[in-house]
Amino acid sequence: MLVAQPVARRAFLSATAPLRPARAHARHLRAGSRVLAEHGDKQARLAASKLATRLVHPVSTTKDPYGGSSTPLYQTATFAFEDGGEYDYTRSGNPTRTQLESVMADLEGATRSFAFTSGMGALAVAMRLVPSGGHIVTGDDIYGGTSRLLSRVAPDQGITVSNVDMCDLEAVRAAMRPETKLVWLESPTNPRMQVTDVAGVAAIARQHGALSIVDNSIMAPVPQQPLYPSYGSTYCGSTNYGPTYHVQVLQQPLALGADISMTSATKFVAGHSDVTAGNPSLSPEPSPNPSPDH
Ligand SMILES: Cc1ncc(COP(=O)(O)O)c(C=O)c1O
Repeated sequence: MLVAQPVARRAFLSATAPLRPARAHARHLRAGSRVLAEHGDKQARLAASKLATRLVHPVSTTKDPYGGSSTPLYQTATFAFEDGGEYDYTRSGNPTRTQLESVMADLEGATRSFAFTSGMGALAVAMRLVPSGGHIVTGDDIYGGTSRLLSRVAPDQGITVSNVDMCDLEAVRAAMRPETKLVWLESPTNPRMQVTDVAGVAAIARQHGALSIVDNSIMAPVPQQPLYPSYGSTYCGSTNYGPTYHVQVLQQPLALGADISMTSATKFVAGHSDVTAGNPSLSPEPSPNPSPDH
């Protein structure tokens, strides 16, 4: 509200400016640029703040004239077309979606994140990274929808898939072929909650010129309070002697060397069972050795 009030006042003053004498209008314009400068400083301060703060007060990518503290929902399919305008058609871009993608990129430590209407929608597109004749190495314990995508849809597109134990790095290495384009893992897996050495698998993929994608849905990059519920309780063999209040991020696969991190935001990112969404995010350091087909 600290920002919203002066910005709304400025808009009001602008609209009524022609009704006032020129000197008052000039004074108002000076005040307006001061507000804009303060607004800019605020964005810079937020960009440098800790993740928990940035999630509550994300650096705004929308040019909302009223400085709304929540991102406005732009429920429109089309935008008035202006030369050089940022948005024209919601399938190509929408300010609300841009804001969501920017927050997700921040959460994942990514250069860019994309918002899809479901996790499976995002994964179906990820599979298109592999051309006909290509090969995918994936786990032997993966989400049912992914398993059906890779076992029933992929073959129709001329893609072969090997399912291996992703907890066994040697098995992953042995499954790599010259035509392997994508290494696809979940960690932890759904349903068996197997945990993979993400950095180890991502390194194998890079060595073979393949991309790696981690389905991070179960260990989403969501900041959480530590899982120690009460004083003296035991978790994974360690005893908690008091609550800890810092916020921790559960898992950022890109920081572990993966090229793409995908989270079904239907799960922990949204958290209220009222939305389906999927967000693939891209590494700031893309694979240095991608094969020519990528
Ligand atoms: C690990 C995993 N990946 C992907 C998905 C698919 O996500 P969505 O339901 O958003 O399409 C699920 C859904 O349960 C999942 O558990």
